[in-house]
Amino acid sequence: MMTSRRQFLQSSLLATGALALPRTMLAGGTVSRRAAGGRVVSTWDFGVGANAAAWPVLARNGAALDAVEAGARWAESDLCNSTVGHCGYPDRDGVLTLDASIMNGDGSCGGVGAIEDIEHPVSVARAVMEKTPHVLLVAHGAQEFAISQGFAKKPLLTDEARKAWREWLKTSEYKPKMNVERTRIPGDEHNHDTLGILALDAHGKLAGACTTSGMAWKMHGRVGDSPIIGAGLYADNEIGAATASGVGEEMIRNSASFLVVELMRQGRTPREACRGAIERVVQKRPAASKNLQVCFLAINRHGEVGAYALHPGFVYAMHDATPGPHDKLIAAESIYGGGVVR
Ligand code: GLY
Repeated sequence: MMTSRRQFLQSSLLATGALALPRTMLAGGTVSRRAAGGRVVSTWDFGVGANAAAWPVLARNGAALDAVEAGARWAESDLCNSTVGHCGYPDRDGVLTLDASIMNGDGSCGGVGAIEDIEHPVSVARAVMEKTPHVLLVAHGAQEFAISQGFAKKPLLTDEARKAWREWLKTSEYKPKMNVERTRIPGDEHNHDTLGILALDAHGKLAGACTTSGMAWKMHGRVGDSPIIGAGLYADNEIGAATASGVGEEMIRNSASFLVVELMRQGRTPREACRGAIERVVQKRPAASKNLQVCFLAINRHGEVGAYALHPGFVYAMHDATPGPHDKLIAAESIYGGGVVR
C-alpha cells in the first residue's frame, strides 16, 4: 500500500521523537491542551502497558498526578517485569528492595528508597508527599510509614527472581554494563530498566512518577536515582517534566532530570535538553560513559516529547487522543549510535 505524505511525515516525526500534541489555537495564539486531552509517555516497551493504565485518567480529564500513579502501579504489578516492582530482581543478599518517586508540576513531591515487602512504592511515595512534611523516606522507616498508612506487607520476591539470584551467586560477578540489547533473560545483570512516566493533562498540568527495583545484585542498601527528586524525576508546570532510566549513579551525579528541565527552561526542545544532559554525563565521566547506559525522556508544557540516550536501544511509549501510530514504541537517538525501533 502506498504511504501517504501525511503518514510519511508522521512516521518521520515519530522516529525522531519530535512529535508535538495537535494544537488548538485560540484567540491571541493561546495553545489549548484541553482539546487534545493530554498525553502520557513512559520509558521502555513496558511503557505501553503503563500508558494504557494511565490514559483513562487523562481521557476523563483527570489529573496528571493520578494518571502517572496509575501507570506506575501497573508496572509495579506487572508479573513479567524483572526490573520494576513485584517481579524485580533482588540485591546481592537476595533481598528485593524498591525505589520510587512521584512529583507534581506544582513542586510537591515524595519518594521512598530501599523499601521492602510493599507492592506499590509509588503510592507510598505519594503518601510521603501528601501526608508527611518530608520528601524521602527509606528502608525500614519507609516500610513502617507504609504500614501505618494501611499498605499491606507481603513478600514480593518471586521464585524466578530467587532462582536468577542463586544462579548469579555462582560467580557473584558484578559489573554494571550498558544495556544495549534490553532483555528479560533471568539472571541478566544488565537488566536495570526503570519505569519513568510523565503526563500532561487536559488542564495543562504536568506530573511524573518513577519506579524500579534498581540494579539487580546491587549492594544491600543501595538507592538509585529513581526516588531522588531531580535525579530520576523532575516536573515543573511552567516548563516541563523529565525522567531517567539506566545506571542511576550517573543521574545522581548530574542531578540529571533537573538538568533536563533546566535546559528546557533555557529554550531547548525536550530532545535537545535530553541530549544536553547526556552530553554532561559523557563530559563528566568520558571513559565510564562508554560502558553504561543512561536514557532521558522529557515532555514540555506544550506536550512536545523528546528523548536521548548514551547508547542505542532505548525506546519509549507515547499515548494520546490521536488515533494511529501514537501507541507505538519510539526509538531514542543516542550519542554512541543510532536508534532502533524494537
Ligand atoms: N535507574 C535505576 C537505578 O539505577 O536504580
